[in-house]
Amino acid sequence: MPAKVIIGAQWGDEGKGKITDMLSADADMVVRFQGGNNAGHTVIVDGKVFKFHLIPSGVIYDKPCLIASGVVLDPKVLLKEIAVLRENELEAKLQIDPHTNIIMPWHQQLDAAKEQGLGDRKIGTTKKGIGPCYAERITRTGIRFMDLLDSHLFRQKLESNYASSALILKGVYGQEPLQSQDQIYADYMAMAEQLRHCLADVGGLVNAAIAEGKNVIFEGAQGTFLDISYGTYPFVTSSHTISGGVFVNVGIPPQPLDSIGIVKAYTTRVGSGPFLTELHSEIGEHIRTVGKEFGTTTGRARRVGWLDLVMLKYAHRLNGFTQLAITKLDVLSGMEKIKVAVDYLLDGVSVSFPLSLSDLERCEAVYEEFEGFEIDSSMRTWEELPLAARKYLRFIDEYLGTNSTMISVGPGRKETILLPEH
Ligand code: IMP
Ligand code: MG
Repeated sequence: MPAKVIIGAQWGDEGKGKITDMLSADADMVVRFQGGNNAGHTVIVDGKVFKFHLIPSGVIYDKPCLIASGVVLDPKVLLKEIAVLRENELEAKLQIDPHTNIIMPWHQQLDAAKEQGLGDRKIGTTKKGIGPCYAERITRTGIRFMDLLDSHLFRQKLESNYASSALILKGVYGQEPLQSQDQIYADYMAMAEQLRHCLADVGGLVNAAIAEGKNVIFEGAQGTFLDISYGTYPFVTSSHTISGGVFVNVGIPPQPLDSIGIVKAYTTRVGSGPFLTELHSEIGEHIRTVGKEFGTTTGRARRVGWLDLVMLKYAHRLNGFTQLAITKLDVLSGMEKIKVAVDYLLDGVSVSFPLSLSDLERCEAVYEEFEGFEIDSSMRTWEELPLAARKYLRFIDEYLGTNSTMISVGPGRKETILLPEH
């Protein structure tokens, strides 16, 4: 069986947490491969709400959870999540790749200072230090999980990175470091001690599991249009969020994957950047309220708009979706009309999703209008869905050439309609 990868097809917050949690029931391991605690996954089990940022959602099913080398890891956040799980009598079976880069206090400070410096042009980051940590990694000065386990090497790297980040903070932003070097050294050494037993060759373990035919799930974070290369740059995150990122970020060879695209029945975005189908009307306000569209990580109100099939066509090209899960269909319940973007016009000419941000900003969306429908969270079969909802869903698959296999009609695990391939 090919390994499964769960990918956000839009700008994140499509409901990957719920789908990962559902699919984890039969999984042998769940692996995070990119991003860090900028992510926020909400999982609801027996009415109890869990919010994770770093630990893979499979943890609730007591599955082995792996953090691969492509992740940037804030040990403070990880230890907090482990503690919350313990309070609920759950012990995370956690393994961390030694190549994983560590988020340091200056990354968060630089993230916030840079955003402030950008003023109106700010990205709207989560200020968790993700970008600066990945930047250090790429310039080959980053501190990795394995470095924390060698106190001498850690002290050396800390001295050097602390000094250079202090220079930037002072010279560019007029700020002093928030903590002393000695304080950081002591904190991180103590945290490393608590996480030392998690060290594992994650790439090797995943490779072996796949070779043995085990059920491996790769849990994506953020979404396709936040990809560092193919997203709406610079309004993106600092990692590859698309399905192909799995191989290099886990350290396994290229191979066919079951690529599961998670598509929210409408579109949301947190942070700045172009959003063609954005609604600034009461309808948008209604969807935000009903869909509880407020960030899991930052609490910010998410921007809300209609479903955009032009975007999704590009997402499908990038990710090669073998299945789609359509989430939050219930949120659209009771609306009179529902619109879907089916084309973009650039200076009046029909175009596919533009590669340049300035072209994208000049595009105008063309919509197709659908009749509204009523959705009840107790619906479990295709036949129970109102005709208008079926029409909406079929249209998505026909336009994209995809196969929707899961329709989510409520936040709980069971509030899902499973469909055979069609
Ligand atoms: P960063 O990842 O904190 O650097 O933020 C870069 C952009 O990605 C901002 O627009 C964030 O709001 C967005 N972003 C980061 N993580 C998530 C996520 O998990 N869901 C949705 N948006 C995210
Ligand atoms: Mg989220």
